[in-house]
Amino acid sequence: MYNSRIVGLGHYVPDNIVTNDDLSKLMDTDDAWITERTGIKERRLIKKGSGEGTTSMGVKAAEMALERAGISKDAIDLIVFATLSPDLYFPGCGVLLQEQMGMGTCPALDIRNQCSGFVYGLSVADQFIKTGMYRNVLLVGSEYHSGGMDFTTRGRTVSVIFGDGAGAAVLTREENPTKGIQSTHLYSEGKHAEELAIIGPSTKRWIPEIVADYDEDDSRYHPYMNGQLVFKNAVVRFSEVMQEALLKNGKTTLDIDLFIPHQANLRIAQFIQRKFKLTDDQVYNNIMRYGNTTAASIPIALSEAWSEGKIKQNDTVLLAAFGSGFTWGSALIHW
Ligand code: UT7
Repeated sequence: MYNSRIVGLGHYVPDNIVTNDDLSKLMDTDDAWITERTGIKERRLIKKGSGEGTTSMGVKAAEMALERAGISKDAIDLIVFATLSPDLYFPGCGVLLQEQMGMGTCPALDIRNQCSGFVYGLSVADQFIKTGMYRNVLLVGSEYHSGGMDFTTRGRTVSVIFGDGAGAAVLTREENPTKGIQSTHLYSEGKHAEELAIIGPSTKRWIPEIVADYDEDDSRYHPYMNGQLVFKNAVVRFSEVMQEALLKNGKTTLDIDLFIPHQANLRIAQFIQRKFKLTDDQVYNNIMRYGNTTAASIPIALSEAWSEGKIKQNDTVLLAAFGSGFTWGSALIHW
């Protein structure tokens, strides 16, 4: 048995900055409401017609991660791509990224676990490396939310929260069992599947039916979120799965050098920080600048924290995520 270790991180966000004031020109909202309830000040949104999308952002993040890892794309044995906003119904973004990057014929796997997508993907990559089947895995989380959001007052609960962007990690085999990913813990609870979902464009109603009754004002064509239910479940599940990671590894919160929560809402992160008595130096948040980028949020935060020198050799890093499905998970990494 081997361990797996992250050796390169990268991220990419579109240039287009959209502030809370910008949104208040499109819908009945304001900076005070968004800041108070979510902590978000601005987000990056793809400019329509720019040609950018989920895969192309993922490619840019992946290129940065590979360069920082010092590993050639030809040495990658497996691509894992996490997204809820794929370019196509099928095939998945994994093969599209492989083609855009000219990566030969390595396997490409897509992960459909929304906000928990990166943590699920990390666990999948870890298992393949642990068994010895693959040595190097490229893991990407990328989201193009803005194309499907309702930027009128009707959609304001959702559209002020989410942003576009991508993050990536390169994982490699590690012989030292005390280094790298120490544990991952994954959960899901399908009874809440439609509490945070987009149900209009789906194979339940195939294309002629959708075209026949398509109505831009129909909320089924935009993401729906039962915000309060999601919030209540998030704080409970975050806590459970973080506690499990600590217990499994014989650690306490004092041992955590950096905790990176999925960037869902700054209020959720602050609640967890208080509950676990973590100091400001132990927690990394960037939702203020990017909003919630779902599968991309943890790798963007990891990449930024690493480049700011907040993750160093031998640090203990804890990741936790919760989101649509519901799905949730954690990972404890010894850097
Ligand atoms: O990644 C995981 C996925 N997501 C999450 O973790 C999000 C979890 N949920 C949340 O973060 C919060 O529920 C929200 C930030 C989405 C909403 O905050 P809330 O405190 O739960 O607000 P609410 O939905 O209960 O709405 C309160 C009021 C309502 O008005 P009335 O009925 O009290 O008159 C809403 O219509 O705020 C109104 N409202 C807004 N007002 C201004 C909803 N969205 C907005 C808005 N601007 N953007």
